[in-house]
Amino acid sequence: MLVQTAVMAQPVVIAHRGASGYLPEHTLAAKAMAHAMGADYLEQDLVLTRDGELVVLHDLYLDRVSDVASKFPGRARADGRHYVIDFTLDELRQLNIAERRKTDNPQDPTLAFPGRFGLNQSRFGVHTFKEELELIRELNRTTGRAVGIYPEIKSPSFHHQNGQDIALAALKVLKDYGYTINDGSVYLQSFDPHELKRLKTELKPKLQVNLPLVQLIARTDWQITEEQLSTGQWVNYDYDWMLAPGAMETIAQYADGVGPHIGMLLDNQNGKLEPNDLVRQAQAQGLVVHPYTVRADALPEGVGSIDELHDLLFKQAGVNGVFTDFPDLTVRYLGR
Ligand code: G3P
Ligand code: CA
Repeated sequence: MLVQTAVMAQPVVIAHRGASGYLPEHTLAAKAMAHAMGADYLEQDLVLTRDGELVVLHDLYLDRVSDVASKFPGRARADGRHYVIDFTLDELRQLNIAERRKTDNPQDPTLAFPGRFGLNQSRFGVHTFKEELELIRELNRTTGRAVGIYPEIKSPSFHHQNGQDIALAALKVLKDYGYTINDGSVYLQSFDPHELKRLKTELKPKLQVNLPLVQLIARTDWQITEEQLSTGQWVNYDYDWMLAPGAMETIAQYADGVGPHIGMLLDNQNGKLEPNDLVRQAQAQGLVVHPYTVRADALPEGVGSIDELHDLLFKQAGVNGVFTDFPDLTVRYLGR
């Protein structure tokens, strides 16, 4: 199995939603392709169905990657979206999954990333977390490789508000599939610091597992996480402290790594992007740093090529790995 700590030099390649630059995100085909491309880890975004099954999908709702609106008319919520948590696994299996579209409008064929896999070409479906773990286990066995997993529990606050405990559900499946120790085969990630603390102090001891936790860092105005006040009210979580001095020391008390957005690591100095101090501060606290997301077709402003971005992240900033939509290009850059 892979073993990595913050002080080890070998950076890791995390296939973001699989080889999502080449195939529709989070399909089993995209995961198999990323495995074959030499990724060290395959990412799973996890959401719960109405009947409590973990499925591998990025959004809480289905509208941008499926034909849910035509298959299940009348099942949208008031905001017009069709939420995974309102559908059973059997219902989700009736959907066709396709390349991500830019909007929720089913009539709008604009892709989120123009030039990627064609809309509604071939046939893909929804699969469970367990099915993906089985795919990876069997691919590891048949290829003799030891590719790890990097699951993210999506919006625990939303799941709690809908009567589901996604952190507990994910941990149970991980334990059932043999992911129980910190041996480099798994990282468990979340944007929700309250849930990460709960995992560390309550759920991991309860299930007797010891998996490394990664705090994903968002901008507050993305409105990605809600927290519950003592009054019971749910409010937008304020991430600003995570980018302030001293934050890494606090995060290191409950997590083993951080996943910042790439833009949080790079400052614009007179028109030139230069790394700031965040990576060094995190690593000084023993945290690994795995920023998201390297995309050859959506480079940060001022960056001319994917390898220029690789240089900035690996050589200048000194990250311990990256989430990448193009695992082959990151593997090649690292000379593997
Ligand atoms: O989990 C790392 C990265 O994937 C976070 O962003 O929105 O793609 O899940 P997102
Ligand atoms: Ca993710």
